[in-house]
Amino acid sequence: MSGAAVPVVAIDGPSASGKGTVARRVAAALGFHYLESGALYRLVALASLRAGLGAQREAEIAALAAALAAEFLDERTLLSGEDVTEALRDEECGNRASEIARLPAVREALLARQRAFRRPPGLVAEGRDMGTVVFPDALLKVFLTASVAVRAERRYKQLIDKGIRANLAALSRDLEDRDARDAARSVAPLRPAADAVLLDTTALTIEEAVAQVLALYRRRVGERTGGIA
Ligand code: C5P
Repeated sequence: MSGAAVPVVAIDGPSASGKGTVARRVAAALGFHYLESGALYRLVALASLRAGLGAQREAEIAALAAALAAEFLDERTLLSGEDVTEALRDEECGNRASEIARLPAVREALLARQRAFRRPPGLVAEGRDMGTVVFPDALLKVFLTASVAVRAERRYKQLIDKGIRANLAALSRDLEDRDARDAARSVAPLRPAADAVLLDTTALTIEEAVAQVLALYRRRVGERTGGIA
């Protein structure tokens, strides 16, 4: 299978739309590899915070992104051998990630790294620009949405379950700010690809959302093979 022949399912959407959980489960169901692209931006954010680099230091942050020694294990993420799984999830890191994600040189530095995840038998990639920039030839592109209120509640529950204190109103404001920044930036803004299927998960359970994505994928594969036969 040549690189481009390896099927990709691209799942994009705003923060806390459920795309991480849905993408992980779809990948497991299909036996595909999984790319959480936001983790790469968060790793660069963490590395830049630790290096004391302000979000405007584009060239230095891009150099950090290019040299990033990241390892993705089953449930843990390592940065230069150190387990940074928890540090990556905190809001400071998420907010910094969205600031540095605006920098074209940083996005460029992460492009080849993301495409390297495309290996047989297939890849489920989730983020903001999987369908528009990183894998424009994805076999299936899904754009997940959900109301801000539901997304803030989901993030709140996630944090509380992990024993992290959280404030629902502040989380909701943070989500809106981050979405606005992600949607307004000039490089790879958060928007559905023209050929993406929109899936609103406001009233769906995770299982229902996963089932819908799998059904869309199977239909797409059927159309593809039907077309060739
Ligand atoms: O998905 P997650 O919330 O972990 O991503 C953190 C930030 O990284 C996002 O707010 C977004 O600005 C950025 N990001 C991006 N492109 C991606 C994935 C994440 O710009 N493909």
